[in-house]
Amino acid sequence: MILAAGQGTRMRSSIPKVMHPLLGQPLIWYALHAAYHATGSKPTLIVGYGAEQVRLYVQDSADFVIQEQQLGTGHAIQQVESLLRGNADFILVITADMPLLTSETLHNLIQTHTTADPKKIPITMLTVINEDSHGFGRILRNENGDVVSIVEEAVATPEQLAIQECNASAYCFSADWLWEALERIPLSPKGEYYLTDIVSIAVEDHLAVRAMIIDDPIETIGVNTRVHLAEATDILRKRINNNWMLSGVTIIDPKSTYIEPNVEIGQDTVIWPNTHLQGNTSIGKTCKIGPNTLLLGSKVGDRCEITTAVVEFAEIEDDVEIGPFAHLRKGAHLAKGVRMGNFGEIKNSYLGPETKMGHFSYIGDANIGANVNIGAGTITCNYDGERKYPTEIGEGAFIGSDTMLVAPVKLGDGAQTGAGSVVTKDVPENTLAVGAPARAIRKLKK
Ligand code: UD1
Ligand code: CA
Repeated sequence: MILAAGQGTRMRSSIPKVMHPLLGQPLIWYALHAAYHATGSKPTLIVGYGAEQVRLYVQDSADFVIQEQQLGTGHAIQQVESLLRGNADFILVITADMPLLTSETLHNLIQTHTTADPKKIPITMLTVINEDSHGFGRILRNENGDVVSIVEEAVATPEQLAIQECNASAYCFSADWLWEALERIPLSPKGEYYLTDIVSIAVEDHLAVRAMIIDDPIETIGVNTRVHLAEATDILRKRINNNWMLSGVTIIDPKSTYIEPNVEIGQDTVIWPNTHLQGNTSIGKTCKIGPNTLLLGSKVGDRCEITTAVVEFAEIEDDVEIGPFAHLRKGAHLAKGVRMGNFGEIKNSYLGPETKMGHFSYIGDANIGANVNIGAGTITCNYDGERKYPTEIGEGAFIGSDTMLVAPVKLGDGAQTGAGSVVTKDVPENTLAVGAPARAIRKLKK
C-alpha cells in the first residue's frame, strides 16, 4: 500500500506532490518501483488530492483507492480494507514521498516480519536514528527496550522530542490483525486517525512490535518542500553515478552529470562534464559522450563520440561521430560510421552507412543512402507552409555546398549538385545538376 493522498501543501504547487519529477521520474515512480520489487505484486495506491493526474500517469501499474477526505494515515489504510481483506497475509505500507527508500530495505523489512512469528509480532516497522529528528514521530521504548508507542511531534513532551529514534513510515503488518486493529484507532485531538496509534493497540493486545533500524538514514529523507526535492536529487544523482562507475563507466565530473534511473550505459564509455542522460536512453560500449550533451530517449551504439549535442528520440548506430553543436530530433537514424559535424539538425531522417554531413545543414523527412557527401549548408526544404514532403538521395551522391533540396524531390545514386543549386526536380543517377531555377513568376494572393 502506498500512501499518496495528501496535497503536499509545502511544495506550493498546483501539481500534486507525488507528480513532481526527481531525475526525470515523478516521485510516485520511485515508490511504485520499490514496492513492486520488494513484494513482487502490484501495489495499491491511496490517492486523494490530484487523483486524476496521478491515475493518468500510473495507469495500470497500481490499483487505486480514493480517499475522499484526508483524515489521516490510519484513515487512509481503512479505505483499502474492502479491496485487500482476505487477499493478502501481509501488508507492506509505505508513503509516496520517500523516493530514496530502496527495495532491498523493504525486502529486509518483509523478511524480518515473515520469518518471525507474525501472530505474536503483528507489526514490523522501519525506524531511523536521526541527529535532527524534526518532523518525525518518535519511538518510545520501555525499560526492556521493547517498542511501546509512537508519539507524533506535535504532542510530544520535551523529553520525548529529545529521542533520536524515529518512525520512518514503512511498516509490514500481519493482515488479519491489522484489519481488526484499524477499527480501534482513536480520533486524534486534530481530528485525524493516525496509523501510528496502532502500535499502542498491539501493545494493549499483549503483542510485540518489532523495529528494524535502518543502516543508512538517507533512505528515509521525505520530500515535503522543493528544498528537499533538490537534496534528494543530489543524493540520487550520486547513487546512480556511483553504480555506473562501479560497473565500468568513467564519469569525469559526477557533480555535473545527471543520469536518470532508466538509462543504460556500456563498459568503458566515458561521460564528460555537464552531460544529461534522460528517459530510456541506452549507450553502448567505449563511447565518448559530452561535454555539454543532452541525450533523451535515444539509442546509441558502440564506439560513438557525441560532443556538445542535443539528441532527442534518435537512433545512432556504431562508430558514429556527432558534434560539436548538433541537434538530432525525433526519428533521426544515423547508420554505422556516419559523421555529423557542427551546426547540423536532423529530424525524421535516415542517413546511410558512412554518410558525411560536415557543416551547417538541415535534413528533415529524408531518406539518404550510404556514402553520401552532404555539402556545407545543404538544406532539405521539406515544408511549404502547409505540408511536409520527403527527400530521397541515392547511394554515393555528392550534394554541393549550399544546395536547397525543394521537396518532394529525388536524387539518384551517384547524382551530383553544384554549389548553390536549388533543386526542384528529380535528378537522375550519375547526373550533374547545377543552378538556381527559382525565379519570381507571379505575385501570390493573400
Ligand atoms: C508521518 C508519521 C510520522 C513519521 C513520518 C515520516 C503519521 C501520523 N505520522 O508523519 O510518525 O515519522 O510520517 O515521514 O503517520 N496521507 C494520506 N492520507 C491522509 C494523510 C496522509 O494518504 O489522510 C499520506 C500523505 O500523502 C503522505 C503520507 O501519508 O504520503 C504521510 O503523511 P504526512 O502528513 O506527510 O505525515 P507526516 O506528518 O510526515
Ligand atoms: Ca511526510
